[in-house]
Amino acid sequence: MEEKLNKIKQDAIERINSSKLLDEIEEIRVNILGRKGLLTQILRSLGELAPELRNTIGKKSNEIKKIIEDAIDSKKSELAKSGFSEIASNEWIDVTLNPETSIREIKSGFLHPISKTQYEIEDILTSMGFQILDGPEPETEYYNFEALNIPKFHPARDLQDTFWTEDGNLMRTHTSAIQIRGMEKMTPPFRIMAPGRVFRYEATDASHEHTFYQVEGMMVDKDISVSHLIYVMEQVLKGIFKREIKVRLRPAYYPFVEPGFDLDFNCMICEGKGCRVCKHTGWIEFLGCGLVHPNVLRAGNIDPEIWSGFAFGMGLNRLIMMQNGINDIRHFMSGDIRFIHQF
Ligand code: PHE
Repeated sequence: MEEKLNKIKQDAIERINSSKLLDEIEEIRVNILGRKGLLTQILRSLGELAPELRNTIGKKSNEIKKIIEDAIDSKKSELAKSGFSEIASNEWIDVTLNPETSIREIKSGFLHPISKTQYEIEDILTSMGFQILDGPEPETEYYNFEALNIPKFHPARDLQDTFWTEDGNLMRTHTSAIQIRGMEKMTPPFRIMAPGRVFRYEATDASHEHTFYQVEGMMVDKDISVSHLIYVMEQVLKGIFKREIKVRLRPAYYPFVEPGFDLDFNCMICEGKGCRVCKHTGWIEFLGCGLVHPNVLRAGNIDPEIWSGFAFGMGLNRLIMMQNGINDIRHFMSGDIRFIHQF
């Protein structure tokens, strides 16, 4: 019996030492120490032995069991270690490789020109204390028209061609809707701005698009005048074009401001002398603006006897066209990747 045990031990140690795979080791363990393993069987049958043998064989079996278990454990950890070093030597990566110069081109995303200019304007206006607000693209008639002093059946509604939804709402035709939403949330004095997409039911051509981008601005405080408005507009233009820009106001009709203006800046292509871009006027139309109409303040629960304000709404697409020499507004929504990759 003792001989048999020695043989089991010797065989096991030899096989363990010569094996190269974790699976092999596991197989050996099952064969010897598993439920039906060789050593397990001997330990189970101890009861059948004569009492004096039982002790010595039992002791010996347990010793051998321990030796084999230890051999298995140390071989297992040895194999695991060499497995790592094998991976380390075969599957290494060069962490010092410069992605800029490596063969594989790494493509990173970049901002759309509209986002870029929008963020620039946000930076300029927030630096002057304007808070950024957001509003829904599908709007109610109330926020888009009525509260902005454009009642139902008023001809001024026809100034903005509109996408109506079947339930009587509409896609906002301008970001001015957020003037009302803003006033409902804020208590004066305040300065707010709202960038976003707007929609017009429009026949498209090189300078008209059904979907475009605006930035709305509104300041409400005491004794606000047109000169506050002009100053803020000049700062925005200076920030975008990185130089002093001359502006002028022309009277214009927007029902939610009184007086209302269109604001032009002097053409940078011809320095005001007149060229094709400015249609030989020396001026580029930039935005609509004016002093907030008392009815609009009232709609926002603000007392026009105490408070006054200015508001402006600038279109981003034409501004960016001007900045980059883009000759067709439809490029922005075309989804043509070649257009975007120019920026
Ligand atoms: N909402 C106007 C438009 O889309 C622009 C505007 C905004 C005019 C604020 C005056 C004041 O044309």
